[in-house]
Amino acid sequence: MSERLRRTEQRVSGGNDLDRIPARVDELMSQMTPSEKAGQLTQYFYFRLRAGASAEPGAGTDQGARPHLVEEALGRGEVGSLLFVTDPAEINRLQRLAVAGHRLGIPLMFGFDVIHGLRTIFPVPIAMAASWDLETIERGQAVAAREARAVGIHWAFAPNVDIARDPRWGRIVEGAGEDPFLGAAVAAAQVRGFQGTGVGQGDRIIAGAKHFAGYGAALGGRDYDEVNLSEAELRNAYLLPFQAAVEAGAGNVMTAYMDLNGVPASANRWLLTEILREEWGFGGFVVSDANAVRNLVTHGFAADVTDAGARAVAAGVDMEMAISDPAYAHLPEALATGAVSETALDAGVRRILEAKLRLGLFDDPYVDEDGARQVLADPEHREVARAAAERSAVLLRNEGFLLPLDAGRLTSLAVVGPLAHSRRDTLGPWVFDFDLDETVTVVDGLRRKLAERVRVDYAPGIRVAQRVFPSMFDMFGGNRPEDPEGFDEEAEFRRAVSIARAADIAVVVAGEWQNMIGEGASRSSLELPGRQLELLQAVAGTGTPTVLLVMNGRPLDLRWAAENVPAILDIWYPGTQGGAAVANLLFGEVSPSGKLPFSWPRTVGQIPMIYSHTRSHDPQKQGQRYWDEPSTPLFPFGYGLSYGQFTYSDLTVDHPSIPPDGTVSVSVHVANTSDREAAEVVQLYLHQRHGSASRPVRELKGFQRVTLAAGTSQHVQFTLGPGHRRHWSTAERNWVLDSSIFDIWVGGSSTAELTATFEVTPT
Ligand code: NOJ
Repeated sequence: MSERLRRTEQRVSGGNDLDRIPARVDELMSQMTPSEKAGQLTQYFYFRLRAGASAEPGAGTDQGARPHLVEEALGRGEVGSLLFVTDPAEINRLQRLAVAGHRLGIPLMFGFDVIHGLRTIFPVPIAMAASWDLETIERGQAVAAREARAVGIHWAFAPNVDIARDPRWGRIVEGAGEDPFLGAAVAAAQVRGFQGTGVGQGDRIIAGAKHFAGYGAALGGRDYDEVNLSEAELRNAYLLPFQAAVEAGAGNVMTAYMDLNGVPASANRWLLTEILREEWGFGGFVVSDANAVRNLVTHGFAADVTDAGARAVAAGVDMEMAISDPAYAHLPEALATGAVSETALDAGVRRILEAKLRLGLFDDPYVDEDGARQVLADPEHREVARAAAERSAVLLRNEGFLLPLDAGRLTSLAVVGPLAHSRRDTLGPWVFDFDLDETVTVVDGLRRKLAERVRVDYAPGIRVAQRVFPSMFDMFGGNRPEDPEGFDEEAEFRRAVSIARAADIAVVVAGEWQNMIGEGASRSSLELPGRQLELLQAVAGTGTPTVLLVMNGRPLDLRWAAENVPAILDIWYPGTQGGAAVANLLFGEVSPSGKLPFSWPRTVGQIPMIYSHTRSHDPQKQGQRYWDEPSTPLFPFGYGLSYGQFTYSDLTVDHPSIPPDGTVSVSVHVANTSDREAAEVVQLYLHQRHGSASRPVRELKGFQRVTLAAGTSQHVQFTLGPGHRRHWSTAERNWVLDSSIFDIWVGGSSTAELTATFEVTPT
């Protein structure tokens, strides 16, 4: 256990039990056979599909290890952990098999993908990041942890802290976007939310930062494909959120599927041992991604599964997540031949047992099934989710201040598009334990809010769109969208246009169906799937003022809308309370305050596109690198409008010149000149003019979310220390602090113009 974790948890538990952990681990390990040790290092999938669910043809039909085989292994004391069980009664039953059914009685640790909530579903992670609201993010994962722990889950395969700079990659939805500074802050907030001050508390769980490392840079945005990243890109961007998660005390790290610079990440000693443990002092345990150890053979890296297991252990993978037939079952053989060392094996077992002891599982391995029901039903959790959805929405356009709408001046509203009333899609991907009945769609939210006063008509207008190749998640019932029975698309299209024509305001909800984003959901285009653009054009063509709500986890091609639809609000996949939040936003109970966590490209051909690029030849033509389309984003990183109006002035830096290890204080005056309260995310960007390596034109180095009442203002302060200027220089093959002139900009997006400079001079 790392010293940092030990200190924190000692405070919580009063110390005594944690001090005894090493001795208890020794005592257990002295009694364990090699097979039992290998078992502790093995995590099995364990799930049965819901009744009625079936696998789509071709949609990843491997449904996990067969339950009876897992139970037999449990009886032999050869299972360390299970994943995918979420029913507390089932968790107790399986736990009994482990604890009462074996001589050593070592409890199981249950892991699960608690990505954006368990029963109360929060906005998807990219949306939470768009709130730039670290308190909301922390609170959200604390709610998720409380629900998960109540049903008996001890460990979340989250946060996903992968930097994503290619939105063709579907897993952009699971992370915090393109920027390492924002990504690091969001990663740490999530770890704090999951773990609190210690997982020994009954409402916290272990956080597992994933996927170590570089997974988001898959070639062509194709999930699982190889990644080639320079050490500078890794250290200056991709690794930073992981380091932040480790520093925040994350108890677990998960490996990534792909080859990183030619070596599988899941057997990459440089990553898993040299960087993670030796440089960062990580004291938790490392788990492989699902089947990633066996996959070492698929990569053409390991000779066979025995070699795969031995090399994963040697590289630093403590636990294997196995869909079936674990490679780690062969570790006793590898130990006998000397292919794996006892020291390496024991180090892994020790870390797993420590985690179980820290969780308090040896004292109380079971869950209270009635208590779980109560926790899952807690109305306060829904309130937190609604507030999160309100804070994460990003207002992309608001011509003529069409928004907020005034209910007093409306008699009818037309809501159009299949996503507007789809409970499952409102929740987004990567959720399994949701309650569809309580999910508030946009249509539900608007009808509830406007009650009898304003008529809300709804028409889907078009068929749902389908993937060409099915999603592996389609095997879970309800994940594949379906049209209502007897759907007549032409008649529906006409009906949608006619209700829009007759209404005072039309609201079109368009985006991607939730099975089109997430794992295994890479895309070769960013267009609105199906006939959604045509529907939007027809509705806007009626002349009724139109609001576009975008339901998405990646940027989509909104070029037409950005010129022709007066108001565009990005609502992401807003979760259980999504529709209620959207209604509050549209009618101005709360002002949108989210900011984009990625640069929003105009078209797929611009990808990858980041705001923090370096400058080179002909920089005045930076926006004209293509002859057929501007090479600027449609909406820049950090961008998002508000119903308030913010002005920035009086940017000052307290010292014009500092030594390399010096710090400056930056202050800016922010005023809300509008007649309504609103929140703004004040952002600070930094640029180093010259040095040992070329540095990005600007990089985010600070942000603060401030809420300003109508007509009020505030001074916002930032501190910029050496850590903000330090970078990995390819020229020096090391971290450096260059002496240089530094520009800063402060404002409401990455295109902020208010600027100041300071100098760093050699001592
Ligand atoms: C594979 C995914 O890559 C990972 O993120 C997830 O946690 C595991 N499957 C378990 O579901």
